[in-house]
Amino acid sequence: MRRRILAGNWKMNGDREEAMSLATEISGMVKDEYLGDSKIVLFPPFVHIHSIARLLEHSRISIGGQNCAAADSGAFTGEVSAKMLASCGAQYVIIGHSERRSYFNESSSDLTAKIMQALKAGLQVIYCVGETLEQREQTEHFNLVASQLRECLFHLSKDQWGHVVVAYEPVWAIGTGLTASPAQAQEMHAFIRQTIADHMGHELASEVSILYGGSCNESNATELFVLKDVDGGLIGGASLKSRSFVNILKQL
Ligand code: PGA
Repeated sequence: MRRRILAGNWKMNGDREEAMSLATEISGMVKDEYLGDSKIVLFPPFVHIHSIARLLEHSRISIGGQNCAAADSGAFTGEVSAKMLASCGAQYVIIGHSERRSYFNESSSDLTAKIMQALKAGLQVIYCVGETLEQREQTEHFNLVASQLRECLFHLSKDQWGHVVVAYEPVWAIGTGLTASPAQAQEMHAFIRQTIADHMGHELASEVSILYGGSCNESNATELFVLKDVDGGLIGGASLKSRSFVNILKQL
């Protein structure tokens, strides 16, 4: 179901105390100040998921993992399975973040396996796509994003698509302070929706939530969130400050 979503990707930040405080502050502000009905999801590091899921059990905030393993279980030292995440209270998982693709060499076949594991475990998938600056300069960005969608998502059934959210995160905008202009964001979001429609049909495409990510903050959120095909945000840096995150939420 297409809905408005604000996701906070904490990446590898925060010890236990800091993570618990951030979650407590965000849930307090949401309770006191937020009247909207957007879905709110926090993505803490794995080790904090269980505690934060318990802390926020009776709140309207959901929790997710920033990654999951491509396998079910077994001898994969250091990995965390989708099923383990779900058993700790996670409802979502981010798959295909550009930092995972580039620093950990995650290929489309790895990502496809992760998506299948996540869906099997009953998690909602936030699947990230996006081009580097070089790819945009060479006008390869549309082809690249289309292939990222095709390689990992177009084999899914309509039912499975009901558990998938797409996040467009131009790599050149992540953590750099550079943001896609509203025109660039709308152009790519519309392209993503059209590409999904071409393969899966218009009805399904109109029901998919497509989030924008990449230096989204309190000052630029409104101009991005008003765009027709932008259904919310995946926020990195600005999600580490409760005030900023909740101020962004209020603009959704
Ligand atoms: P950023 O990160 O908001 O710090 O640019 C976004 C992301 O990587 O999800």
